[in-house]
Amino acid sequence: MNPNPIQLFDVESSTFTYILVAPGGQDAVIIDPVDHNVERDLRHLERLGLRLAYVLETHAHADHVTSAGMLRERTGARAAAPRGCGIAPAERQLDDGDVLEFGAGETIAVLHTPGHTAGSMCYVWRGNVFTGDTLLIDGCGRTDFQSGSADALYDSVTGKLFALPDATRVWPGHDYKGQSVSTIGWEKRHNSRLANRSRDDFVKLMGELNLPKPKLIDVAVPANQNLGLPHGA
Ligand SMILES: [Fe+2]
Repeated sequence: MNPNPIQLFDVESSTFTYILVAPGGQDAVIIDPVDHNVERDLRHLERLGLRLAYVLETHAHADHVTSAGMLRERTGARAAAPRGCGIAPAERQLDDGDVLEFGAGETIAVLHTPGHTAGSMCYVWRGNVFTGDTLLIDGCGRTDFQSGSADALYDSVTGKLFALPDATRVWPGHDYKGQSVSTIGWEKRHNSRLANRSRDDFVKLMGELNLPKPKLIDVAVPANQNLGLPHGA
């Protein structure tokens, strides 16, 4: 049985953060950590005796600020981010098809999944996929800002994510409905935005959402492109 990640939640922004632990080892990776949870996340790492190898971002977020820079300073981890997200200080700039290694032979496969933002990526590890805001449980991320594209999101989900085995567990970047994990098979059959929907219908649906601008976008995106650290730091 493949391991689950440790799933942590940020109530303010409804963001999930994940800690992946190499089975039988001490090495870990954290995905999409949030700035004001840094002490909580460090306590988890400390309590479990984990060494943080990488802080990994799915994209440059618009609704919260990452703690990647702080975690890097405090743990010695390296930062890894999608190349197309403009997160220049990350040591590892990831491209589609890359493999991120940690621990004794643990591998995270990198999938470029544009749509929510042009640079967004999903990460596959041991039967789990971390989908950021590309695919949510029974939903998907918005595509109306930050170089988003409903057409591209449709291709990313139906062409790349739905091509994963049905049993792959889906761990989203957010949840607003109290759900925490799903599977590719379930989303393929039941996702109310994407299951059995034509591209044209999907693009029309996304074009009619009329969502308010995220409150933090003007602050969060530039901050996240600097790993959450003040510019000049
Ligand atoms: Fe996002």
